[in-house]
Amino acid sequence: MSALTSPSPEQPGIAAAVAAAPHEPLIIAFLCNWCTYTGADLAGTSRIQYPPNVRVVRVMCSGAVDPLYILRPLLEGADGVLIGGCHSGDCHYVSGNYKARRRVAVVQSYLAQLGLEPERVWFRFISASEGRLFAETVTTMTETLARLGPNPLAREWTA
Ligand code: FES
Repeated sequence: MSALTSPSPEQPGIAAAVAAAPHEPLIIAFLCNWCTYTGADLAGTSRIQYPPNVRVVRVMCSGAVDPLYILRPLLEGADGVLIGGCHSGDCHYVSGNYKARRRVAVVQSYLAQLGLEPERVWFRFISASEGRLFAETVTTMTETLARLGPNPLAREWTA
């Protein structure tokens, strides 16, 4: 066996190194194609810095985000879910953003029963021209999730 394939007793393996690393929150973000997704793109093209903790899923409207889309990442160990939608009056499908905001409030009210903090799920109005707001939102959410600590449900999957 080579040193590359087998850690020596003095040298911890990859799993131990990963376990010892500081927790980095994982955010799953469902972003409306017409506003927040474009805002995130603007943040990138404007080279606005924000934490690399977010994984983006583009949707055609925040109103298309079913409550199960929010719960599933949390049940599978993500630390938080962000939904970004058009500002009031700007939804291309009239009221999808209002429906999304209501759904988030309902999901937040159930999270405690799963042993999760409601602060793990955010809804934000962010337009296509608000790249800086997107970056600030991801930064603040990452800090909030780091303060809350790892999703306790993640342990169920890694135990
Ligand atoms: S089209 Fe953007 S939230 Fe509905």
